[in-house]
Amino acid sequence: MRRVLWRPMRIVYVVGTRPNFVKTAPVIGALRTRLPEGRHAIVHTGQHYDRLMSEIFLEELGVPAPDHMLEVGSGSHAQQTALVMERLAPVLEEERPDLVVVPGDVNSTLAAALTAAKLQVPVAHIESGLRSFDRTMPEELNRIVTDQLSDYLFLHSDEAIENLRAEGIAAERMHFVGNTMIDTLVALEARFRAAGTARRLGVEPGRYALVTLHRPALVDGPLLPETIERLAALAREIPVVFPVHPRTREMMEEVQAKHPGLQLCEPLGYVDFLSLLADAGLVLTDSGGIQEETTYLGIPCFTLRDNTERPVTVKAGTNTLLGLDPAAITGIPAALAEHPPEPPEPPPLWDGRAAERIADVVAGLEES
Ligand code: UD1
Repeated sequence: MRRVLWRPMRIVYVVGTRPNFVKTAPVIGALRTRLPEGRHAIVHTGQHYDRLMSEIFLEELGVPAPDHMLEVGSGSHAQQTALVMERLAPVLEEERPDLVVVPGDVNSTLAAALTAAKLQVPVAHIESGLRSFDRTMPEELNRIVTDQLSDYLFLHSDEAIENLRAEGIAAERMHFVGNTMIDTLVALEARFRAAGTARRLGVEPGRYALVTLHRPALVDGPLLPETIERLAALAREIPVVFPVHPRTREMMEEVQAKHPGLQLCEPLGYVDFLSLLADAGLVLTDSGGIQEETTYLGIPCFTLRDNTERPVTVKAGTNTLLGLDPAAITGIPAALAEHPPEPPEPPPLWDGRAAERIADVVAGLEES
């Protein structure tokens, strides 16, 4: 690491959306412990800003209050990306970090990586190397560019190694450390196992479907009304609990979707959400993180997408890709009967210690 005079390391963590907080919290914790003299500055871009999408997560995860709030809010992809860049640059000039840490694949991730790289600040990418090979997904573009720009690529599954190699990324930049989202799950396990959220919502553990949907391909277009109809039909066989992302809520109101029998609720805090996930009979989702959490917990997951950047979850046997086809929801009860009865072993290094491994690499930079 190029530093003229020795000084304690200065790290800036840039987070902006709900899953970012979950992926980064254990890394901030591990690095603060390992480098107590260092500066650990948290930047919240404000891509997610509702209390239920943001503060509640930071509080539950024990993340200190952010040092800088960029308050970019919602907007087009271009606006959101540009605003993060414009507002982050002066923060990086002021903080003069030795490393900028970015998680995942959202617009804030790409914007932060690009801003740091242009200022010649080294970038570390948590959850590097995932690929859906579908460039119509904004997240895929964010992943490809962020990985190209990053100096330290922290991989959560071994599939990423081949994906990155195929894009010409040198092995020296890759560090296979495991899944930091699972670190958070493991750290919260005692709390979510005791939370009893299912009963509080009036459903029996093991006997309900948990649904989350928020991707533009599904909720911003013509597929949404049929999806809701099919879910209502599923709800005649098994109770369906559906915490609704604000984007989905807005679109449901726009198309005036009727949802008889569905138990809709506001987005949940993380402990409540994990409690519902762990007790679910099945999960239907288009989220990336939930495919991973169900794999770790051994819960059958049905993913309403044509592809996944997390094939490791399909290989594990918990995740079934239904395709981007609401009609496939009808087949879920039959498919459930085919699911392996025993939960599989989690993928390699999904063991609650990924952030420690990241801290090993980063602390090693201070010494070098
Ligand atoms: C973003 C990420 C997606 C990630 C998801 C997690 C990108 C391109 N997408 O999608 O990869 O899986 O976060 O949730 O970065 N809204 C609110 N309050 C909020 C946040 C959003 O009302 O706190 C509404 C707004 O109407 C906004 C819409 O949700 O326009 C979409 O928000 P945005 O951050 O653009 O994308 P997400 O769909 O959340």
